[in-house]
Amino acid sequence: MADERQAAPAKIELDAVTKQFGDATAVDAIRLAIPRGELCVLVGTSGCGKSTTLRMINRLIEHTAGQIRIDGQQIRDFDEQRLRRRIGYAIQSTGLFPHWTVARNIGLVPRLLRWPASRIAARVSELLALLGLDESEFAGKYPHQLSGGQAQRVGVARALAADPEVLLMDEPFGALDPITRESLQDELLRLQSRLHKTIVFVTHDMDEALKLADRIVVMDAGRIVQQGSAEALLQAPANAFVESLLGGRDRGLKHAALTPVAERMRPLAGGAGQASDTLSVAADDSLRQALSLMLWHGVDSLLVSDADGQVIGSLSLRDAVVARGANS
Ligand SMILES: Nc1ncnc2c1ncn2[C@@H]1O[C@H](COP(=O)(O)OP(=O)(O)OP(=O)(O)O)[C@@H](O)[C@H]1O
Ligand SMILES: [Mg+2]
Repeated sequence: MADERQAAPAKIELDAVTKQFGDATAVDAIRLAIPRGELCVLVGTSGCGKSTTLRMINRLIEHTAGQIRIDGQQIRDFDEQRLRRRIGYAIQSTGLFPHWTVARNIGLVPRLLRWPASRIAARVSELLALLGLDESEFAGKYPHQLSGGQAQRVGVARALAADPEVLLMDEPFGALDPITRESLQDELLRLQSRLHKTIVFVTHDMDEALKLADRIVVMDAGRIVQQGSAEALLQAPANAFVESLLGGRDRGLKHAALTPVAERMRPLAGGAGQASDTLSVAADDSLRQALSLMLWHGVDSLLVSDADGQVIGSLSLRDAVVARGANS
């Protein structure tokens, strides 16, 4: 095995999966293959079947027709404890038990799996550190003593507790203010770059999808209308609905938000220099941030600096707007 620290991530396959609630079809014969280690985001308007799809994968909802497989094995054939161990689940309301401490909440699944107490305690410490929660401060707190963002971190820690191969996340950051939300998104990306889980993440926020996803799956009325990378969707939305989700005429700005300044800057001839008073952006800032700065200050070029504040290049308005090679 290439990486022995983590359990191998699973591949999830949905093969013509349908969910019927009485006469109503919530999910209509969807096909989806999620490679191991991929962060797949289901996006679409309210009621389109995102949560139902997610909850069929861990059998909180049984599918009506079709097949769901993890690593080629039908989930109907798993025993429940094994499935629970393989799939972490984090939701918007966190689902934390109010009368349990943070530590006890995080240790829920390992306890169900009858891990020895010392191993559970070690795992809880490890997860608190991983999610940036100081153990001495937070381990003994109760959910009502946490902020929304802290509670979400605990929810994610709990979902990761038994080192599941698959992580299902249903609008986990939906209730948070934009700044906390963005910082948790950044943390999820940082965690994912270390853990390489197979993640299915549900949101109705296309900006969140564009930021997080390796693959975006757009759903409408129980069906998949398009799937692909953020870049692919922005370049060629399949229909007017996808285009409107992508922000219609704001599409250019959404694309700019995904492009780092480093991709368009002109490197400084003669090596790095000291930053002066002239306006600068960081190389890993987005083109959108650079354009906003230019607009705000009424300038048409910026210096570009690296993480140490050294000037390493410049970005003109034209560089930002026109990719080199695209049109010169
Ligand atoms: N237990 C249920 N019984 C009957 N109908 C249900 C049930 N759960 C969901 N539905 C219906 O299935 C459809 C899809 O619901 P689902 O919760 O998957 O939507 P969603 O995309 O997650 O929406 P939201 O963004 O509002 O969370 C909706 O029309 C909903 O009313
Ligand atoms: Mg939902």
